[in-house]
Amino acid sequence: MKGVILAGGLGTRMMPCTKVTNKHLLPVYNKPMIYYPLMTMVNAGLKDIMIVTGGNYAGDFLRILGNGKEFGLKDISYTYQEGEGGIADALKLSENFAEKEKIFVILGDNLVEDDVSEHVAAFEEQKKGARIFLKEVSDPERFGVAEIKNRKVINIKEKPKKPKSNYAVCGLYMYDSEVFEIIRNLKPSARGELEITDVNNEYIRRGTMNFSIIKGWWTDAGTFESLYRASKLVAERENKIG
Ligand code: DAU
Repeated sequence: MKGVILAGGLGTRMMPCTKVTNKHLLPVYNKPMIYYPLMTMVNAGLKDIMIVTGGNYAGDFLRILGNGKEFGLKDISYTYQEGEGGIADALKLSENFAEKEKIFVILGDNLVEDDVSEHVAAFEEQKKGARIFLKEVSDPERFGVAEIKNRKVINIKEKPKKPKSNYAVCGLYMYDSEVFEIIRNLKPSARGELEITDVNNEYIRRGTMNFSIIKGWWTDAGTFESLYRASKLVAERENKIG
């Protein structure tokens, strides 16, 4: 399985910090944000990883990550998203890199405590389709929210005013090669983006969507509040490990 980290977009929610660098390079406790999804992938055994970036500071990724030696990688692939066309628009750029293999996608501003190796292994076993990660949260209206019936996800709503459950869809997704055909048929949403939630709903419609529940903490870090929360969670973990 190959890995794709999505770190495009313009980071306008994090101004003025993003005036001088990319959002995903801001520090979460003692490391740049992008280190965390990268470590999650490397710890799950992935070796072939692409970073989709964008904006004015794409070169900063090379300066910080180089060829990935610090992570035990031989190299890292990079590509560039123009503008802010949405998560699925950024993912589309990894089609050649994926070479029809299954992919594990993590949003560049998502951090997870768990080692996800067992879920990656479960998806390797899954014949086709997709697998998403869910986490119970107290503020589901900030996320994609899963509606669950008979242990199946039957629908996902993006940032619903009246959430049907407390299960947020985390920014970690596993897809087979059909994902690129699905993206090609997407229409931009009301906010003008190609939505990852529309991709996931198409897999649900096809009956090939599975899910895993995240046991430890999970957070995004794409706003000042969540960045602060992420830093606290990482600091607590580091201090626990010592
Ligand atoms: O954090 C999980 C949530 O992420 C999910 O629950 C939602 O379903 C999903 O839509 C997404 O919501 P956000 O509103 O938080 O997404 P945001 O626009 O902040 O983008 C998250 C990351 O995705 C961002 O750090 C980089 C990548 N991205 C985003 C856009 C819009 C791109 O690479 N390119 C883009 O054009």
